[in-house]
Amino acid sequence: MREMIFETHAHYDDEAFDPDRETLLASMEANGIGAIVNACASVDGLEATVELMEKYPFVYGAIGVHPDDADRVTEETLQKIRLLSRHPKAVAIGEIGLDYYWHKEKEEHLLQQKMFRAQMEIAREERLPFMIHSREAAEDTLNIVREYVKNGMYGGIIHCFSYSKEIAREYLNMGLYLGIGGVVTFKNAKKLKEVVQYAPLSQLVLETDSPYLAPEPNRGKRNSSLNLPYVAAAIAQLKGITSAEVIEVTEQNARKLLKL
Ligand code: NI
Repeated sequence: MREMIFETHAHYDDEAFDPDRETLLASMEANGIGAIVNACASVDGLEATVELMEKYPFVYGAIGVHPDDADRVTEETLQKIRLLSRHPKAVAIGEIGLDYYWHKEKEEHLLQQKMFRAQMEIAREERLPFMIHSREAAEDTLNIVREYVKNGMYGGIIHCFSYSKEIAREYLNMGLYLGIGGVVTFKNAKKLKEVVQYAPLSQLVLETDSPYLAPEPNRGKRNSSLNLPYVAAAIAQLKGITSAEVIEVTEQNARKLLKL
């Protein structure tokens, strides 16, 4: 049997897919993409993700609101996240976390932290893994994740991991997974290549963050899960193993974490 790629993080509700969403998703299986987790990014993405997971047997959902949308999260939104996370195809709470790259104000940081914590609470109470977005917020993210994991969580993925080997070690020691995507194929991604060489394959998962971050040789174009073989090949090369092994082990990792 051919190995099937497990895509742990994409945004197929994004308007970039409006012209051809249906034909694109219909082509996944024939191209070796066996499962996809659609990650909610915005408040509006909640319903859109549910629609996708109900329409496509191989699409699952991560339910949550991205830090970019922290100022739009109300008590009602949190209640909705909790209810939707009980959907049989909801496999994680995400993407949640901190983004200080796009948001520089202290007040914004505090609001993001509050909404991040509120969603980590939901992950714990609903017994679901979390999926973290963290940009230019290494220390605060690590402190919050550490605090929650110490008090009992159900695992998680640090999506689009972008920090150093030292930070990676902290997350790996907590038993978490690192999401590796197109950036690993970029020539200048020295830090990430080091992380991939260092981290055990048993704690890596594949992701694209589609429509963003397309790998070489498609860098700059719209991304889709069909590009994942390039990511697997880059990881394989860095670790001196075959692409087939990367695909097989990362699929097992994702299924184990997400209980599929
Ligand atoms: Ni994303």
